[in-house]
Amino acid sequence: MPHLIAVLPGDGIGPEVTAAARRVLETLELDLVFEEAPVGGKAYDTAGHPLPVATLDLARRSDAILFGAVGDTRYDGLERALRPEQAILGLRKELGLFANLRPARLFKGLEDASALRPEIAATIDLVIVRELTGDVYFGLKSRGTTAEGLREGRDLMRYDEAEVARIARVGFQTARTRQGRLCSVDKANVLETSQLWRDVVIEVSAEYPDVALTHMYVDNAAMQMVRDPGQFDVIVTGNLFGDILSDQASMCAGSIGMLPSAALGATGRGLYEPIHGSAPDIAGQGKANPCAAILSAAMLLRHSLNLGEPADRIEVAVGRAIADGARTADLGGDLSTDAMTDRILATL
Ligand code: IPM
Ligand code: MG
Repeated sequence: MPHLIAVLPGDGIGPEVTAAARRVLETLELDLVFEEAPVGGKAYDTAGHPLPVATLDLARRSDAILFGAVGDTRYDGLERALRPEQAILGLRKELGLFANLRPARLFKGLEDASALRPEIAATIDLVIVRELTGDVYFGLKSRGTTAEGLREGRDLMRYDEAEVARIARVGFQTARTRQGRLCSVDKANVLETSQLWRDVVIEVSAEYPDVALTHMYVDNAAMQMVRDPGQFDVIVTGNLFGDILSDQASMCAGSIGMLPSAALGATGRGLYEPIHGSAPDIAGQGKANPCAAILSAAMLLRHSLNLGEPADRIEVAVGRAIADGARTADLGGDLSTDAMTDRILATL
């Protein structure tokens, strides 16, 4: 039976980079069928909702989801429930995709593209394991008025112990496949949510005596990531901290256009997306770097379809193209999205 891949290109540069990733998957001649559906602002325009029932249904039927990006300032005026971002948040929640793997490493040749000094940039090779269906993202939200009549906004930060334990296990297991070092990032000096997080991570660590566990406050982690990123192997952290630290890690590794991600749940089905957003300012111009989307396709093969060998081939091909000097604008070059994809396909 062929594997069903749901392709959800979304907004901005999403369609361009997703098309590039699909081209790479098609070139490998695996037993895949692709079915496309609108999501985000595109879906709002055509179906009145950022995550239409038919799109969610396709995602549920699929073996894996290849996702582009959502969001455009055009929709900022809409009520929150109808904004494009709700599509990705809704997919994560509805499909139970609680574990987000965001690997960041520097491809040889990109030392100069990094925001860090080349000799420091060269050491970055880490995975951020970000919790994806809890935290302040999904806690109760409300607006109100203070006793003095001032407008007030509220977002509840919360985790229960089961949510922390299951993401901690993903962190420990990921560390086992790498250098065996796990750094749990929290803000336990200030936040009760974080103290629970830390307590539970320590309890779970008893199951993984072979993994070296450390803890770091998020402010220090942000500083350490630019000072000495090589000290990190696997980072496990909550939804909000992981969102911020992964954007930071991307610039350390050369460009936000290079970082893929996998959102995984209890089943094999996962959602794969570049960590960059929709970048409406460069949409439709063929300027977007397709690497993050292409590397996301590699993660899709490895994590949802158990096809590690073609996944490795894709990653090697991207590495070779980069080493040969292929560069999109974000990396200081002038290749278009399609030309960059051609260079990767040529080495595949
Ligand atoms: C990400 C994005 C999303 C997030 C947005 C688009 C809702 O920034 O995947 O990192 O905050 O999770
Ligand atoms: Mg983000």
